[in-house]
Amino acid sequence: MAVVEVGVESIRSVAKGHSLPLVYRLFFLLIEPISALVGAYYAFFRQSEYLQLTHAASAPHYVPRGTSIVLSQLANLYFLFAINEALVLRATSDLRVWKTVLFGLLIADLGHLYSVRQLGPQIYWSVSSWNAIDWGNIAFVYLGASLRIAFLADVDQFTGFQVNGPDTWLKFHKNEFQPKPFGDYDIDIKIECCGVCGSDVHTISGGWGEQHFPLAVGHEIVGKAIRVGPKVTLIKEGQRVGVGAQSYSCLDCRQCNNDNETYCKHQLDTYGAVWPDTGIVSQGGYSSHVRTHEHWVFPIPDALPSTVAAPMLCAGLTAYSPLVRNGCGPGKKVGIVGLGGIGHLGLLFAKALGAEVWAISRTHAKEADALKMGADGFLATSDKDWNVPHAMTFDLIVNTANSFEGFDLDAYLSLLDVHAKWVSVGLPEGDEGIKVRNQTFLSNGCFFGSSHLGSRKETLAMLQLAADKGIRTWVQEYPISDNNLAEVMTKLEKNDVKYRFCMTNYEDQFGA
Ligand SMILES: NC(=O)c1ccc[n+]([C@@H]2O[C@H](COP(=O)([O-])OP(=O)(O)OC[C@H]3O[C@@H](n4cnc5c(N)ncnc54)[C@H](OP(=O)(O)O)[C@@H]3O)[C@@H](O)[C@H]2O)c1
Ligand SMILES: *[C@@H]1O[C@H](CO)[C@@H](O)[C@H](O)[C@H]1NC(C)=O
Ligand SMILES: *[C@@H]1O[C@H](CO)[C@@H](O)[C@H](O)[C@H]1NC(C)=O
Ligand SMILES: [Zn+2]
Ligand SMILES: [Zn+2]
Repeated sequence: MAVVEVGVESIRSVAKGHSLPLVYRLFFLLIEPISALVGAYYAFFRQSEYLQLTHAASAPHYVPRGTSIVLSQLANLYFLFAINEALVLRATSDLRVWKTVLFGLLIADLGHLYSVRQLGPQIYWSVSSWNAIDWGNIAFVYLGASLRIAFLADVDQFTGFQVNGPDTWLKFHKNEFQPKPFGDYDIDIKIECCGVCGSDVHTISGGWGEQHFPLAVGHEIVGKAIRVGPKVTLIKEGQRVGVGAQSYSCLDCRQCNNDNETYCKHQLDTYGAVWPDTGIVSQGGYSSHVRTHEHWVFPIPDALPSTVAAPMLCAGLTAYSPLVRNGCGPGKKVGIVGLGGIGHLGLLFAKALGAEVWAISRTHAKEADALKMGADGFLATSDKDWNVPHAMTFDLIVNTANSFEGFDLDAYLSLLDVHAKWVSVGLPEGDEGIKVRNQTFLSNGCFFGSSHLGSRKETLAMLQLAADKGIRTWVQEYPISDNNLAEVMTKLEKNDVKYRFCMTNYEDQFGA
């Protein structure tokens, strides 16, 4: 029967994760509800016709009318159950829902078989004598399916480890949440691993002030593209891809048109941002999936293992962009302040770009590691007069410090050559900031600036550079779980990391 075929095909296409063609939507939206109404009318108001038929002399066998009524009730129950599932799960590509619908259909079809057997094909196929309860069965089940398809198609449910608020920021709860509706340019990614950024701690611990909770953080994501929107051209289904800290920009403004989309005034973060159309809060990478516009999804070169690539998508890019935009390269002396996640990648990338690179850390604790990473020199700011021998010799300093505690800006700036640049990417907590006086810049006429993430072009170039030069993030892997997330956040807050945590083993928590 055509109706069943269309139903099954719709179910199949939605279950496979493709958008439903318009003609199907119209079908479910218009025809099915009408047939449901007709069915309901027969089921409730013209049962007597059915009951008469079951007693007709032409019926070769007598089927107790109870049977059909029981079947009808079962179908109705399934209809209610299916609606309930749809509302609770809000997940049309969730196979559980479709299994329920199919089962309801099966029961309805069983009702038909009984009818054919009992009434004989001639009576059965003459429409006027279609039995009311079978009409009702099939209509109810289709109403359930049609509601789901017409209104809830493209609404899925992801699962993630969320924090409820800063008071309990180390308590991660595995919850289901609704992603933004699937757009034509969107990609659903099944997450394989996710790096742990200093920003995650700032966000959930309340250091950056109010956030939208419950929230799953994490924005150094690598996974597999499992569904691509109809207009996507940059990514293929099945490809290994990454997502960083930014997930949207308008792609239309002056900034978006000159590879400054990271500064677009409509930019949205991968987690904790409110999608303007729906009010849905974006959720990060400590989750089963992430849904992202293709512009912010990056193919990962084969040469880079996933856990090496993941931290590059925020930490790496945050370091790489200010380096390349400010002339890091052969013949330049570049300093990196703070040897954490961003800092160590800054060191690796500055080295790969050909500069002379100095690590500037608070103590000597990380000196041996920095030299292993390829640093040409190491300065510890706890040493007396640490800056004096290098005064006015640096061309560029990228500052990744995430706190201003004991931060002597003048001492750092004294390292810069005339008109050389200081670029801060660290985002310390609190609203005090740091005191800057005109005199501070006077002795060398240095420039003082800042940098946010980077562009798509820079991300792709960075990943290619890493692949070509064999750059390896220093990564400590932890299987994702509530306890391990609490542990790595605690350690990161204490600066006890070498040099980036990466959550792994997603299949154990979220399934294959
Ligand atoms: N601009 C952006 O687009 C962007 C993107 C991502 C993250 N961020 C921000 O960048 C900052 C760093 O992130 P991360 O993931 O690299 O953090 P991280 O791994 O914790 O590293 C931060 C490093 O800063 C240094 N540091 C900490 N307190 C300091 C202080 N009082 N004075 C001097 N140095 C200090 C430490 O290095 P030593 O032990 O070597 O001194 C520490 O390892 C965070 O604030 C984060 O929110 C910015
Ligand atoms: C960013 O904007 C500035 C100022 O308009 C422009 O000079 C620069 O070329 C743009 N793009 C990049 C990648 O820096
Ligand atoms: C620098 O000097 C100008 C004019 O003297 C003053 O208006 C400004 O506030 C000063 N800036 C800082 C950062 O102190
Ligand atoms: Zn980050
Ligand atoms: Zn824009």
